[in-house]
Amino acid sequence: MTGTRHDVRFYVGNEYHTLADIAPTRTLLDWLREDRGLTGTKEGCNEGDCGACTVLVVRLEGDRLVWRAVNACIQFVAMLDGAQVLTIEDMRAPDGSLHPVQQAMVDQHGSQCGFCTPGFVMSMVAGRKADGLAQGEHGIDDMLAGNLCRCTGYAPIVRAMRQAMQAGPDHFDAMAQDMADRLRRLRDGATVDISGPTGRLTIPATADALASTLLASPDARIVAGATDVGLWVTKGLRVLPHIVPIGGIADLRRIERGPDALYIGAAVTWQEARAALTEILPQPDDEVIRRIGSVQVRNAGTVCGNIANGSPIGDGPPVLIAAGARLHLRRGDVRRTIALEDFFIDYGRQDRAPGEFVEGVSIPVPGPQTVIRAWKISKRFDQDISAILGAFSLTITPDGTIENARVAFGGMAATPRRASRTEAALVGRKWDETTLEAARQAIAQDFAPITDMRASDWYRRTVAANLLTRLYADCGPDAARAPISVRTACKAAGEHAHG
Ligand SMILES: Cc1cc2nc3c(=O)[nH]c(=O)nc-3n(C[C@H](O)[C@H](O)[C@H](O)COP(=O)(O)OP(=O)(O)OC[C@H]3O[C@@H](n4cnc5c(N)ncnc54)[C@H](O)[C@@H]3O)c2cc1C
Ligand code: FES
Ligand code: FES
Repeated sequence: MTGTRHDVRFYVGNEYHTLADIAPTRTLLDWLREDRGLTGTKEGCNEGDCGACTVLVVRLEGDRLVWRAVNACIQFVAMLDGAQVLTIEDMRAPDGSLHPVQQAMVDQHGSQCGFCTPGFVMSMVAGRKADGLAQGEHGIDDMLAGNLCRCTGYAPIVRAMRQAMQAGPDHFDAMAQDMADRLRRLRDGATVDISGPTGRLTIPATADALASTLLASPDARIVAGATDVGLWVTKGLRVLPHIVPIGGIADLRRIERGPDALYIGAAVTWQEARAALTEILPQPDDEVIRRIGSVQVRNAGTVCGNIANGSPIGDGPPVLIAAGARLHLRRGDVRRTIALEDFFIDYGRQDRAPGEFVEGVSIPVPGPQTVIRAWKISKRFDQDISAILGAFSLTITPDGTIENARVAFGGMAATPRRASRTEAALVGRKWDETTLEAARQAIAQDFAPITDMRASDWYRRTVAANLLTRLYADCGPDAARAPISVRTACKAAGEHAHG
């Protein structure tokens, strides 16, 4: 079927649901607990921070089952159209035995009061299912960074995860074919349109359908991953009369690596874009992306949502601006492309007309002489919003002259912004200590930051200048080719959330 249908269809565990009268911004957590009585999924913070509400969302992408841990408190039920949700109630095998992750939590004493435990178990199951997520030096820490425990302590939980990673297959492996067949049957290419007393929901099937919907209803609210919008509802108690989830639109889910640029569509999440972005934005490692929220947040939140929300402290925009990204906007059939920095006009104001939407962003592939670095400065290593984020792209000729410089900061102004005076102090100069000092002086002219709960204006100015020094230490002429890792620095200061 193509055309339009007037219900949302998905599975919870093995139960099929079709909802025709769902309130557009009913959260998955409230629906599970209050409408379905599935109270194993807990409510802690209701804002995506604690992970107590973690559930698994399984989707069919191509022919592959993709498992993602998400925070149910900031997902709207409507966003699950076409998916299978698994909660803690689904973790026991049909014969009643515990899931290997649950068994590992028992064996390693990973649960005390138990409130956080369902959320941890779901993140750990997701870690087993997602290729590579729990691997590498920081794998398990990263995988669990979105789950907080206030009584057990993290060491037994990390031990449980190590044990669970060694365990054999679980009952879902035996069910994989059935799950895929079932999800395949839900694919009907239809646009969903539901209107009721609590508002309207439109889930366009294609980017063209999205363009028409927004032309007809320019006040409708696009919802990509809802990691910002969800909080407007749960914490801001905002009423959104018409929402338009775009996460399932195939045309907006493209990641394309060409010879000159990487294109990321509007529905691509941070987790999905991570590998491709890391490849073209070489840094000491992919630390900035790894530190955007948590696995749950990166599994839902999109790169383009991070741009479209216009936040002065979003982590993506300064990095992408420094890299020379261009933003693709569409209104009806009219498309335009602008430099990303030009999108941000002022606090809360972006260059986006009514009915227009972000279709994607493209990032040039840097040449061999270009170095890109970015550092996020926040009070905690994991799950924290930046006080400042400095991003730098320098093209340096073999004789050590800076041919091109793009410097962008978040947290230093009302929008993410380039540091034009700093750039002028760098371009055409030898990359040496005299130039570094001139750049440090210039940055004080570029920004007049504010003092707020995250940092004082003095701190921001001092750190911004010091990040230039760090850039020099990391990729100046005398740089030992062993980059300084922010993680190492933060760990030394005892700031890692899982200590
Ligand atoms: C616990 C937690 C931790 C977080 N940590 C970080 C962090 O470390 N760093 C960081 O930068 N952010 C962080 N965020 C914020 C958020 O996750 C990111 O900004 C994310 O990328 C937003 O994407 P989204 O798809 O969820 O946007 P949504 O919430 O779906 O949308 C955000 C805004 O953009 C608009 N929008 C979305 N897509 C489009 C489009 N294609 N065209 C036009 N408008 C559009 C929406 O209408 C809305 O106004 C965090 C959030 C939470 C809840
Ligand atoms: S309840 Fe805390 S993340 Fe959802
Ligand atoms: S076991 Fe009590 S909060 Fe984790």
